[in-house]
Amino acid sequence: MANKFDFKKAKMVPVPSRAIVPERDVDHTPALECIHLGIEFGGLKAVDDFNLTIGGTEIAGLIGPNGAGKTTVFNLLTKVYQPTHGTILVHGQDTSGKSVSQVNRMGVARTFQNIRLFDTMSVIDNVKVGLHNQERYSTLEGVLRLPSYWKREREFDERAHELLSIFDMEKLANEPAGSLPYGAQRRLEILRALGTNPKLLLLDEPAAGMNPSETAELMENIVKIRDEFQIAVLLIEHDMSLVMSICEGICVLNFGKVIAKGTAEEIQSNEAVIEAYLGKQNAEKGAEA
Ligand SMILES: Nc1ncnc2c1ncn2[C@@H]1O[C@H](COP(=O)(O)OP(=O)(O)OP(=O)(O)O)[C@@H](O)[C@H]1O
Ligand SMILES: [Mg+2]
Repeated sequence: MANKFDFKKAKMVPVPSRAIVPERDVDHTPALECIHLGIEFGGLKAVDDFNLTIGGTEIAGLIGPNGAGKTTVFNLLTKVYQPTHGTILVHGQDTSGKSVSQVNRMGVARTFQNIRLFDTMSVIDNVKVGLHNQERYSTLEGVLRLPSYWKREREFDERAHELLSIFDMEKLANEPAGSLPYGAQRRLEILRALGTNPKLLLLDEPAAGMNPSETAELMENIVKIRDEFQIAVLLIEHDMSLVMSICEGICVLNFGKVIAKGTAEEIQSNEAVIEAYLGKQNAEKGAEA
């Protein structure tokens, strides 16, 4: 008689549940696949068994209470931290062992929760930093200021103006970035990231500090960027009106673990999510009321 399979001794490795991506992305390589991704900081599992697939042109949301691990996921995706566990595929390519700049060239660009611009540099030069990130011309060309260098500089200038026009910021091109109002600095960071020609754009709280009309405009622009550039966007955001109205898929983290994935409608009525946001007692009170 064949040996019975001993479930107690077997080491079960859960396979991520089938990805839910928008219909139009189903037969295409996903922009991002995270498989059993994790990182520990001195025993603290900041991100634990994180599985997520994002379609090639999907706008996805990553939400969760403060300290849930959202920014840490971005730091893993951009290789600020190397994961302790798991795999990250960008358009099907394994990013294991890649550096921050290598993974940027593979198509991952981000903005930061705390704005990181070159304050004293002009708005247009900040965008050009993004463009230069993709360039690998020789130092000699730059130092000797060869004609090829100037040709490329002109092309960068044109491209930077085109990018600024997305947010109607051409008139601000020569202002120091640090002199812009907060909302405009956030928009500039998005343009700088776009300048690196990403396939996946990661936005860490893009609406933080924006007023409601700026947030509404940003929402429209994120969709416009996705449509025009045909890229995927993953955004972390506490402004639920933004998340719920533009994200096609939402992933909810709590204490480093995914507690729910689904559409806005599914997430809004998910008990685990309500509990994570309101606390168990409040959630029960809400249900009684
Ligand atoms: N470099 C690090 N060393 C030690 N612990 C860290 C490090 N980076 C993050 N953590 C811890 O990991 C957890 C997740 O932090 P993270 O910044 O990812 O949260 P978050 O979901 O982005 O929160 P918020 O909404 O407040 O921005 C926190 O407990 C944080 O203290
Ligand atoms: Mg954060």
